[in-house]
Amino acid sequence: STDIPVIAIDGPSASGKGTVAALVARALGFHYLDSGALYRLTALAAQRRGVALDDEAALAQLARNLDVRFEGGEIWLDGERVSDELRTERIGNGASKVAALPAVRTALLERQRAFRQAPGLVTDGRDMGSVVFPDAATKIFLTASAEERAQRRYKQLMEKGFDANLSNLLEELSERDARDAARSVAPLKQGADAILLETTHLSIDQAVATVLACYQARQSGQGA
Ligand code: CDP
Ligand code: CDP
Repeated sequence: STDIPVIAIDGPSASGKGTVAALVARALGFHYLDSGALYRLTALAAQRRGVALDDEAALAQLARNLDVRFEGGEIWLDGERVSDELRTERIGNGASKVAALPAVRTALLERQRAFRQAPGLVTDGRDMGSVVFPDAATKIFLTASAEERAQRRYKQLMEKGFDANLSNLLEELSERDARDAARSVAPLKQGADAILLETTHLSIDQAVATVLACYQARQSGQGA
């Protein structure tokens, strides 16, 4: 599997990682993995089953046994479509809590690596380049100002029919990023070998083109 290329896109909340990663995957005909969805699904499953967000053993068990289906950009849990509920900040915050528990991260590791299939994988999260796919061909740290990211998430939630509040979102995203950056396992941070992509003033298309150019530059640099 190590000769199957991976493009790893990590970064803070609502920076555009998922949108950009999915479009890069489409452009290259690669598979796509939204790793954050697995942490969100674990938090949602815990909420539904009444498992406390600090019960590490029970959460790891839930994570290992998630009955999940990814199809056509939608996500199902236990046979129910949950894509929209997963994007709420309530679930994002729960995800960030369960993601700080080492046993949960270990439980999700092999499930993530199984997405590495020919002809290639584009994936986004916090530790795609550092822990899950350390041999990724291209590692990007995608970011934007906190205000811009809160705006992006606000628009995204409003378009899905959720009632969102911009200043609350800014506070929630900042708290979540701080927790993700402070944890001892797989913290949110730009790896020394990751390329910084600052998108505060970039369109989605410009960000996609930049990631593709980084990947292609590396391929031709390695070429025959
Ligand atoms: O879309 P957004 O960046 O807001 O969140 P996400 O990527 O869906 O991730 C939700 C939470 O899961 C994050 O706040 C992290 O705590 C955690 N996560 C993680 O720890 N490692 C990953 N590879 C992906 C997500
Ligand atoms: O995956 P992550 O949480 O990092 O972000 P996302 O869900 O892909 O993007 C959050 C929102 O920002 C989406 O509605 C994107 O369409 C939007 N976005 C944008 O407006 N401009 C960009 N350069 C990138 C994303």
